[in-house]
Amino acid sequence: MGQRDLILSDQYNHSSLKNGAILSGARVLDYAHCNLEDLKAKLHQHRLFYRRCAIVTDSVFSMDGDLCPLPELLDLAEEFSCMLLIDEAHATGVLGATGAGCVEHFGCQGRELIQVGTLSKALASLGGYVASSAQMIDFLRNRAPSWIYTTALTPADTAAAFEAIGICQREPQRRTQLWQNVTYLKQLISQQLPHLKLGWGRAGNHFPTLPFKTVLAAFTAHGSWVIGPLSWAGIYLNYPIVPLRSVLHSYPVAYNGRLILYRQLCMVP
Ligand SMILES: Cc1ncc(COP(=O)(O)O)c(C=O)c1O
Repeated sequence: MGQRDLILSDQYNHSSLKNGAILSGARVLDYAHCNLEDLKAKLHQHRLFYRRCAIVTDSVFSMDGDLCPLPELLDLAEEFSCMLLIDEAHATGVLGATGAGCVEHFGCQGRELIQVGTLSKALASLGGYVASSAQMIDFLRNRAPSWIYTTALTPADTAAAFEAIGICQREPQRRTQLWQNVTYLKQLISQQLPHLKLGWGRAGNHFPTLPFKTVLAAFTAHGSWVIGPLSWAGIYLNYPIVPLRSVLHSYPVAYNGRLILYRQLCMVP
């Protein structure tokens, strides 16, 4: 991508996608979060004036825990001759029959797209991956400076990621446990903290990221004194590096015991 190209980026994309888009030198336009009408309107308005166009989206959005409308995005990408890049960072290991992510969840394997993800998060290692056509991978290998000029993964990290992928495929019961924890935590929040305004994702999907609004952010605006005791209780606030928002996120994982989930919830004001 370069100056003659266009990137259409979901407004809630992860910072790494936003910064990557800027670095590419292409013109970058945001479209409203998961809003296909807005995306289509922008494609109608701008596509014709650019050589190449890429639609870029998270698959599961980290802040709201909702899921991009992948099949419809693919249709639009085909209709307007665009590339589609999807970041599976929060879906790898979690979605799909073998944990292969949103593409597997929607049965879109084999359709033309660029699937990127991290070997961290669910896979507990380091580094990342790109899955796409052989032609695209060949292109990236030869033309992407961030790949060429970066140290390769260590053998230990690579082995750890391989093993984690194997576990995702062989042990689906871990995903079942994760969803049970998500359901349990949601029930707890509704019962114990009925005053909280629950988010559950703007697009109405329910994923392991559970955003809910609290009075907490109001305190952080006036000083960080509240942060110490909360982190001691296992609730972490990255203030001030993350701008103040009135949303707190909970990330239950498969190995959380019910007691841990309950105890953490009791600390939410
Ligand atoms: C959506 C998304 N993409 C990419 C990354 C970067 O992952 P890593 O730090 O493993 O490179 C993150 C990390 O938070 C993320 O949330």
